[in-house]
Amino acid sequence: MVRIRDALYMAALAYSSTSGATQQDETINQHAFDQRLDEISPELDEPGGAGPTHSIVSDEVADVVNQQPDLKLVVISNRVAPFDPSKPQTGGLAAGLEPVVQRSGAVWVGSSENRGDGTERPLPLVETGAGFVARLDLPAADHAGYYRGFSNSTLWPALHSLPDRMSVSEHDYEGYQRTNDFIAGAVFDVRDRDLFWVHDYHLLPLGARLYELGIDRPTGFFLHTPWPAPDMVEYVPNHRELMKSTLKYDLLGFQTNRDLNNYSAYLRTHFGLETTDVVVTTERGQTRLKKFPIGIDPKQFADYLAADLSPAEQEKVSSLLQNFEGSKFAIGVDRLDYTKGIDKRVEGFNQPLRTEPHSISLLQIAPSSRADVEQYQKYREEVESAINRVNAEHGTDRWSPIHYKNDSFSQAALARLYRAAHVGVVTPLRDGMNLVAKEYVAAQDPKNPGVLVLSKFAGAAEDFNENEALLVDPNHPEEIAAAISRATHMPLEERVTRWRPMMDKIESYTIHDWAADYISELDKSRVTVPADQFLHLGLGWTNEAQMPLYQNYATALTAFNEVDPADAALKEAAYADVKSSFEALAAPLMHTQDRLWVLPAPESFA
Ligand code: G6P
Repeated sequence: MVRIRDALYMAALAYSSTSGATQQDETINQHAFDQRLDEISPELDEPGGAGPTHSIVSDEVADVVNQQPDLKLVVISNRVAPFDPSKPQTGGLAAGLEPVVQRSGAVWVGSSENRGDGTERPLPLVETGAGFVARLDLPAADHAGYYRGFSNSTLWPALHSLPDRMSVSEHDYEGYQRTNDFIAGAVFDVRDRDLFWVHDYHLLPLGARLYELGIDRPTGFFLHTPWPAPDMVEYVPNHRELMKSTLKYDLLGFQTNRDLNNYSAYLRTHFGLETTDVVVTTERGQTRLKKFPIGIDPKQFADYLAADLSPAEQEKVSSLLQNFEGSKFAIGVDRLDYTKGIDKRVEGFNQPLRTEPHSISLLQIAPSSRADVEQYQKYREEVESAINRVNAEHGTDRWSPIHYKNDSFSQAALARLYRAAHVGVVTPLRDGMNLVAKEYVAAQDPKNPGVLVLSKFAGAAEDFNENEALLVDPNHPEEIAAAISRATHMPLEERVTRWRPMMDKIESYTIHDWAADYISELDKSRVTVPADQFLHLGLGWTNEAQMPLYQNYATALTAFNEVDPADAALKEAAYADVKSSFEALAAPLMHTQDRLWVLPAPESFA
């Protein structure tokens, strides 16, 4: 890797020694390069002059730019998957990334179960599939502030638009920042990899830290949770500093358009930054924003249904299903988290039982989550007392309306339970995507599918419309009740008609498509050098993300050159177009100047 200044020098030398050029100004030196970024091409300064005639973008260049060499990816998140099929996954992030890392040969850096003294050590890389996982012992002194405090008591409720659940402390924020520093320091060991993909709200400032450490390969961030409206972000202490640090990423990925729009609205309100074609230009350069709705692996779900369970799991699943023999049941599977709306769901479930006793049971699986956070302890009590109330009101010696399980199940066991359930109830108050909704659909029998009752505030509701799922407001138990009743009585034909398009969508954009899509978008920020074009261009080097800007500039330039110099007004208008398209092009070029570049071998300059 070389810095651009050295590269320019090398390229200039190569050009002058091989082309026999004698005039100094025919080669592009650093001074000329810098000047070109600041001003419109000198040839254009005099309207009516000949203007530059070099071609800006050729097909050959586009080919060079489109080449996709093997990528060496680094994935960074707080939680990493257990990489053990018999162990349950905790949350959508780990479930989603496990197959990606195993297939892509990525290095996955995250947190271990242990705490350390904050001393940096070499990355503890362990092989898994084609990839590696490195579990870090995060600094003990800062862990409470980082995980329990700022991540899960401040950011998490704010991101889910639940300010009443928030607590804030400056001390937590400092622990959060220091832990991000520590993780960045550890990641420095793999600085020579090509792309850095950071996940979730625990690590919002990590991209800025990597950048400060001199890791200037493309870094992207994907948010698994929702992004709220600006007034919610304002509840977060130091939100301006945090938000600024997110602009150090090259690419910001969101689950839905709503999240992306909310993020852009903050930039507009607080920084006066406009997003043009989902690109934000700052003094650092460009940050691109894009929606990447996370999916699942439907084939793996089909495999789970086909494979045998371990005897212990089989026993666990069979004894649960015995409770529902000969009757209908709905299933809810959530981490025990107040954003999941389990209490309102239980309340909603109570209502059909009043009008139609024994019509349906609920299997609610809710493994404990973040049990050391006070709000989670309180919520567990709220949910359990709501369940006890419903069971006391409607239960008999031989029948319980709600079966509640607090332990975890493997994905394979869950697949069986989803398949057997007549209704899937996914009613979070807010959710980034909610993969349970997609897993429930994927596990259904195509000839006799169940019905999905889905919160309109889950990201999945941007994928599944009201002709497919039964969409409800999760804050209103009576809406949930009506949907459960409707689902219970829905005729087979309607169930199939609703289920088929949901399944088609799941199959047409899987977790692998999601990852490939994100990675190829992030890769566009990698600098690829069209060596021959560099000498013609005189404006800097390009990468794929910037090609449309070159295209616009080239088109404006051609138009300018074609205008008859005698027509002063038209010439001036064409000049204005050239100027504005050049300015759009100049900003990202400034940014790429500071980056490390993978250069072609010197011979290719000849
Ligand atoms: C959500 C978050 C993930 C997190 C998961 C489980 O899905 O988006 O980042 O890993 O919850 O939470 P936990 O705190 O147990 O990792």
